[in-house]
Amino acid sequence: MLEAFDFVLFGGAGDLALRKLIPGLFRAHRNGELPEGTRIIPTLRNAQMVLEYKDKVRDAAQKHLNKDEFEATAWDSFATIIFPVFIDISKLDDKWAALAELLNNGENRQRVFYLSTPPSVFSDACKHLHESGLITKYARVVVEKPLGYDAKTAEEINSSIAEYFKEEAIFRIDHYLGKETVQNLLALRFANGIFEHLWDARTIDNVQITISETVGLEGRASFYDGAGALRDMVQNHILQLLCLVAMESPNKMTAERIRAEKLKVLESLRPLTGNTVKYNTVRGQYVAGQMDNTNVPGYLDELGQPSNTETFVAIRAHIDNSRWANVPFYLRTGKRMKSRFAEIVIQYKDVAHRVYPETAGNPVPNRLVIRLQPEESIKIIMNSKDLGKHETHLSPVVLNLNFAETYKDFHSDAYKRLMLDAAANDPSLFIHRAEVDAAWAWIDPIIEAWQRPENKPLGYMAGSWGPIASAQLLASDGRNWFNIEEVGTDAEE
Ligand code: BG6
Repeated sequence: MLEAFDFVLFGGAGDLALRKLIPGLFRAHRNGELPEGTRIIPTLRNAQMVLEYKDKVRDAAQKHLNKDEFEATAWDSFATIIFPVFIDISKLDDKWAALAELLNNGENRQRVFYLSTPPSVFSDACKHLHESGLITKYARVVVEKPLGYDAKTAEEINSSIAEYFKEEAIFRIDHYLGKETVQNLLALRFANGIFEHLWDARTIDNVQITISETVGLEGRASFYDGAGALRDMVQNHILQLLCLVAMESPNKMTAERIRAEKLKVLESLRPLTGNTVKYNTVRGQYVAGQMDNTNVPGYLDELGQPSNTETFVAIRAHIDNSRWANVPFYLRTGKRMKSRFAEIVIQYKDVAHRVYPETAGNPVPNRLVIRLQPEESIKIIMNSKDLGKHETHLSPVVLNLNFAETYKDFHSDAYKRLMLDAAANDPSLFIHRAEVDAAWAWIDPIIEAWQRPENKPLGYMAGSWGPIASAQLLASDGRNWFNIEEVGTDAEE
């Protein structure tokens, strides 16, 4: 049972707070998920911001929530539990004492410190929390990516937090783990006998994980250009999805056991280093193109300076253990792609012997498609006989579990879920320090090899599926990228 808690939101007026965190907390309030007495305490950089804060977040919530979700009366009651305060994170002054006074209303209350700030201030924030006596045994800290730029900087960030918080009290967020279908992947695998027997190299031909975005730089040029798609999306979100697909069954659904199994997957990833990088990875950068019949500029035009940062990446990865021997995991993500979707495709092997004549048409491979967005669904693609025809003809049909239809009034909200988990002290869907380290250990050599001149990003048109080399990566293995949106027409891109 969740107890009333204090939620201190550092960076309370930042982009993430306005777009996701405050709207998520409002949803929780409106659903009756915030226990009576819960307080939200955003920290702001000056006194003027404190005065204007409630109007600012109201406007932002109206903009970012779905139309049917924003209700003025519910908002007014939510506004009464918001207590904005003015704090300069870098300076230990009397503002921290005021925060301590506010929080010590209930010393034994659960308290969450959410650092929605650049990592450069994590250390100061933790130090000043410590020096103000705010880190009680009921306190935990939530930190956002980017958790470092490489293994070394990640280690520095993690060490600076670990000086003040124990590992059990550090909640590293990856919002992809808060998405409902991602959690459902575990239920699908470990609560259904039929799949557990169909989940290894004997039955599976390949796995594809795609996060395709239509947005470009979105005003985040300085952050994004220093990061690129590999650091921004693969090191965290995509590798976490890969872990959930590939991990062994934990013997219990506890945070510790789940994280231990995920870690084994990360440590079993076959290293990509030196020359193997060119053969197994594709880097791309979008050039001007068209999205929805509108011209959009290329990355360099948006950025306004030369850059070798990739906005697209595709990787052929292997997990060196007996379950996944010789099963490629194709990973890809990109900005300014043709459409926005995130999905995991488990492609099964063909039947051992084809009994139907060619005139019946080619059976498509069976595929289990777990779709995270835009809609959340799990689909199985099968072959079926066209009904009513004398001559047998096979066509693909889709068994469709569409959560949007089943749960009509449900608005999936990854951040809400994770904030409530942090308040309930449940770290199952957060990342352990060892996972961060293992992920960087796999990513760093790829980045290093990309510094070679022959590994510069390849251009791709905005509104396309990425560089041609991405399709070639799979074609060289006799495979194609799959996209469920195109089932029924030409199922493969
Ligand atoms: C963030 C990345 O972690 O995830 C962004 O920094 C990206 O670049 C975003 O756009 C995608 O999240 P979602 O939930 O919209 O797919």
